[in-house]
Amino acid sequence: RNANAGGGDPRDFVTKMKEGKKRIVIFYGSQTGTAEEYAIRLAKEAKQKFGLASLVCDPEEYDFEKLDQIPEECCVFFVMATYGEGEPTDNAVTLCQNLSDESFEFSNGEHKLPGLKYVVFGLGNKTYEHYNLIAKNVDRDLQKMGAIKIGERGEGDDDKSMEEDYLEWKDGMWEAFAQAMNVEEGQGGDTPDFAVTEVEDHPPEKVYLGELSARALTRSKGIHDAKNPYPAPITVARELFQQPSDRNCVHMEFNSEGSGITYQHGDHVGVWPSNAENEVFRLLCALGLHDKKDKVINIESLDPALAKVPFPVPTTYITVLRHYIDVSAVAGRQMLGVLSKFAPNPEAEAFLKTLNTNKDEYTNVVANGCLKLGEVLQLAAGNDITAEPSPENTTSWSIPFDIVVSSTPRLQPRYYSISSSPKLYPNSIHITVVVLAYESVESEKVKSRWIHGVGSNFLLNLKFAVGNEHVSLIAEDAKHNPALAKLPKYAIEGPRNAYKQETIFKSPIHIRRSTFRLPTNPKSPVIMIGPGTGVAPFRGFVQERVAMARRTIEKNGVEGLADWGSIRLYFGCRRSDQDFLYKDEWPEYAKELHGKFTMRCAFSREVYKPDGGKIYVQDLLWEDRDHVADSILNGKGYVYICGDAKSMSKAVEETLCRILGEAKGGSAEVEGAAEVKLLKERSRMLSDVWS
Ligand code: 2AM
Repeated sequence: RNANAGGGDPRDFVTKMKEGKKRIVIFYGSQTGTAEEYAIRLAKEAKQKFGLASLVCDPEEYDFEKLDQIPEECCVFFVMATYGEGEPTDNAVTLCQNLSDESFEFSNGEHKLPGLKYVVFGLGNKTYEHYNLIAKNVDRDLQKMGAIKIGERGEGDDDKSMEEDYLEWKDGMWEAFAQAMNVEEGQGGDTPDFAVTEVEDHPPEKVYLGELSARALTRSKGIHDAKNPYPAPITVARELFQQPSDRNCVHMEFNSEGSGITYQHGDHVGVWPSNAENEVFRLLCALGLHDKKDKVINIESLDPALAKVPFPVPTTYITVLRHYIDVSAVAGRQMLGVLSKFAPNPEAEAFLKTLNTNKDEYTNVVANGCLKLGEVLQLAAGNDITAEPSPENTTSWSIPFDIVVSSTPRLQPRYYSISSSPKLYPNSIHITVVVLAYESVESEKVKSRWIHGVGSNFLLNLKFAVGNEHVSLIAEDAKHNPALAKLPKYAIEGPRNAYKQETIFKSPIHIRRSTFRLPTNPKSPVIMIGPGTGVAPFRGFVQERVAMARRTIEKNGVEGLADWGSIRLYFGCRRSDQDFLYKDEWPEYAKELHGKFTMRCAFSREVYKPDGGKIYVQDLLWEDRDHVADSILNGKGYVYICGDAKSMSKAVEETLCRILGEAKGGSAEVEGAAEVKLLKERSRMLSDVWS
């Protein structure tokens, strides 16, 4: 039994609350860490405003029988993300079941929570169908059981306005909270989360320089997951767009041999990027840390229950900015209020305060301008944000480093759909990543600039490095190029310049399982729709079938494939000579699948409709409606959609409704929609979409 300090049951949060004199317990359902961050923010605000301490809990680590025993003067917060197609996050599955399952009994012997005070904040994404379903369900279940809600249920939209939705919701909630809990504002105060100390003479081999897990230096073995990513050697990295083009799409292969990592077609891989060196340098200068960037620091949590140090320590200032915290994100409105206190002059202070309190100004200047923390600080101090940052042209602010750490989210992995099949590539994981670069919206205060996506540009850099095109840039002198990032030392093995074949570049990765899978029986027809990089998982799917075909043919000859269902891929791109991904591979796969595989391509800027309109994948689906309807309705076929969640997947679904509605002799809205709903319920229509 793993007894805790108090000797009690470590899964009993009620006793923990009592022992710690905590009047709030906050459960978070979090997949990528955002809900957890909001849970911690709520805990901090309760402390600041009312002086109330909270217990922040991962629901997976606790039992819920005692939920009814929470004392009257206490309350429960639920900060719940809705994941995928209306599912709870992995860590909240049991919690949600316990709340909704009427046969689940609390310690009172009933499925009731009379008088339990609670607060709900949901994190969802409006581009998905079941917006904030989990928060709504939790709210509904608690109501049913007689619990009493404090304030309104909050709902945030991850697609656009999470931060603003939260800020708009929380003030009203805290007012209601003060009343319900009979507390007054002004009882708390600013207490730091962390203590940062500079360490002299620390053995250099014990300093973390970008490693993502404490295990990395202690060299203890362990499985590789999100908590312990694997530095995977990159064996292949090449451009997929036919050049010359001003856009890039990277094909990359990670070697997983000997790592214990396994994957399935349709899974995702999380890649842990580093921040662009230019941004790191800018913030270092703005924080006045430029001269001591490599100083070894230790960071300790002053309240481990509230805020764990989110990365391994001891480390150095520059490492934290490069590898551990998200200095590339758009600076948050609330954070700017906190930082205004440390402004170098009254004008800079007023500038930040205005951004903090004036929502329109914030949206105009910071959100639309995509300003990162370092840039906002420079702008507030009247520095030129377009110049190459240096201590000479950047005013330094005396912001305590603990505040930087506690107000900036941790740098998160970026998830990509795996574009290979383990049946063809048991030891390598392929990804297909279009490189993100766009121009920000201009405002009076900030000119339009190029914004570079962190994850995809990190991979682009790695592609250069592997191809030895700009090794010196990535390794040494990245600050001249705004999108270049520096790899952690452990990720480069061997000499860098002289003998390129001896240099191994690595990227930290881990696998995230998915349910996006082919039917096991090859007789079922399959329709895949994936324009652009949406084709990624389908390359894996087709490879999966190729591997199966090889085995079948070996055993039974080509006749073995006779009763296979058709495999159709709807792909779209701009032009057949520009961004046709894996153009040379498809005919090879088709050969091996002996007529079972058909690819349909919509070249949107090459072939047009008679009226000049563009042809997209959904138009091809409509052209093929007889086949599509027959595969789905008579062949019990499967439909897969991958790619842009906003317009493409919606348009494809509408087209499917039209096709199925027509085939059923009814309308798209009624019969078609019912058929699509049924397909989803039976897991015969699956999506892997992003926004
Ligand atoms: P476009 O850029 O010419 O508009 C991959 O990005 C392909 O998807 C491109 O050919 C792109 O066309 C196309 N695309 C853009 N919007 C789409 C939509 N709403 N539905 C389907 N395809 C779309």
